[in-house]
Amino acid sequence: LIAFFQKKILAGKRVLITAGPTFEAIDPVRGITNRSSGKMGFAIARAAIEAGAQVHLIAGPCDLVTPLAATGNIIRTDVVSAKEMHAATLKEHDYDIFFAVAAVADWAITKPAKEKIKRQGNQAPALEFTANPDILLDVAKTVKTKAGKPYPYCVGFAAESTDLQAHAQEKRKRKGIPMIVGNIAPNTFDSDLNQLLVIDENGNKKMPQAEKLQLARQLIQLVAKKI
Ligand code: CTP
Ligand code: CA
Repeated sequence: LIAFFQKKILAGKRVLITAGPTFEAIDPVRGITNRSSGKMGFAIARAAIEAGAQVHLIAGPCDLVTPLAATGNIIRTDVVSAKEMHAATLKEHDYDIFFAVAAVADWAITKPAKEKIKRQGNQAPALEFTANPDILLDVAKTVKTKAGKPYPYCVGFAAESTDLQAHAQEKRKRKGIPMIVGNIAPNTFDSDLNQLLVIDENGNKKMPQAEKLQLARQLIQLVAKKI
């Protein structure tokens, strides 16, 4: 596989990736977030650079080292909230592939408190939520056709607790994207291993359990053929 990448199948291509969770503040010391280590998104960034791409990695709060930083072929933008991730992503233009790997919080606290909320005996505060923008959906709306192919080529991810295939397929259609990738194994959150179901216009393809980096390399091969 490494030999394969010596062919630099993404040479001259620009790849945008969101990775990790987002964090929505309740007050200065509390918040809500989604479970995500960022490992899959960072592995895709590494595999894309290996394949010769220029990568912009937009990362939510996660404790990972920027992959292959010494190559100079990666720019990393750290963000906290979904709104920040949305703004950083939609600011980008003219890239070939978008991988939406981030586990984006679907809701933000409408009015985060400026000061720490103090306990009121046994009474819990009532929190009001506002829907966050859908980053992938908004990127998908900007897709044009270039040499008969979608530009950028958008790849979504789906973590489901039930009915992976049906939910993932529904998401692919709802978001108007050509490819969605589902995590088959239920608890891959902090794992170095994963097992994927790739759904595109041709149907489903299983990628058996492997290191996230190996899966990322396989995914890069698949997507490189699409563009
Ligand atoms: N996504 C996004 N912005 C959001 C929510 C999701 O870009 N605000 C992207 C994710 O990065 C992922 C895909 O959309 O690539 C699917 O995310 P998921 O949370 O599974 O789908 P939702 O549409 O949010 O549906 P639900 O959470 O109800 O299952
Ligand atoms: Ca969601």
